[in-house]
Amino acid sequence: MTTVAGYSDAQLQELGLDPAKLPQHIAVIMDGNGRWARSRGLPRIEGHRRGVKSVRKIVEECARLGVGYLTLYCFSSENWKRPQHELNLLMSLLKQYVIEERSEIMRQNLSFRTIGRKEGLGEEVLAEVQKTIDYSRDNTGMCLCLALNYGSRGELVDAVQTIAQKVQEGTLNPNEIDEATIADHLYTRGMPDPDLIVRTSGEMRVSNFLLWQLSYAELWVTDKHWPEFRQEELHQALRDYASRDRRFGGLKG
Ligand code: IPE
Ligand code: IPE
Ligand code: MG
Repeated sequence: MTTVAGYSDAQLQELGLDPAKLPQHIAVIMDGNGRWARSRGLPRIEGHRRGVKSVRKIVEECARLGVGYLTLYCFSSENWKRPQHELNLLMSLLKQYVIEERSEIMRQNLSFRTIGRKEGLGEEVLAEVQKTIDYSRDNTGMCLCLALNYGSRGELVDAVQTIAQKVQEGTLNPNEIDEATIADHLYTRGMPDPDLIVRTSGEMRVSNFLLWQLSYAELWVTDKHWPEFRQEELHQALRDYASRDRRFGGLKG
């Protein structure tokens, strides 16, 4: 199996990146596909299609940089409010991506997973997603996590329900519930919290994304729309990230 060669430390330095200061987990709110298309007189779906190209570029670049986890917000639980024709197109694009990307995911040795609720996604999409998860199960490279039909409040509701059931069954003592218990019942179980969250298209909000997990993530927002977000913008985000002083409530280190 061919895998993607990573950058050497010297190459990273040439890009202005410090290998010791790269985030382990990057989460991205890929916003602005519609605005990108509108500004060019194109239908919204063209923005989504072009957005898939950015996904490919950014996934490969993150893997090459040696990032451990990349979580991409693809479809929120609130996005069902959109017109049916846009939903149909988004779902078919998602299915197409998961099928077409399977060989790339294997080539790049990525482990693929998703977060979010299955309900509503459609059997065909779910079957293709599952196939890709199964194929990539033994891969040891970067974890590519797609947030599909994801909402953070819904995730917390699901976690509380499971925890409450365990308490009711007598398998969990309420006094022993701590932060780790909650983290273990979120869809992101087993993943480290994001260190860096990137949002494209300028909005200064988190739109129900990873509310628990983002507690100490560094925020980075760009006015660029997702379809025009490429390696250069990613490197810029990483350079800014490296210059931040993360204190976690303590004092300057
Ligand atoms: C992000 O782009 C993709 C999804 C939310 C599915 P948008 O479709 O939200 O684009 P804008 O925000 O309308 O420009
Ligand atoms: C956030 O974008 C969700 C995704 C990128 C999938 P939205 O376009 O749905 O966010 P709002 O509606 O502007 O908050
Ligand atoms: Mg949007």
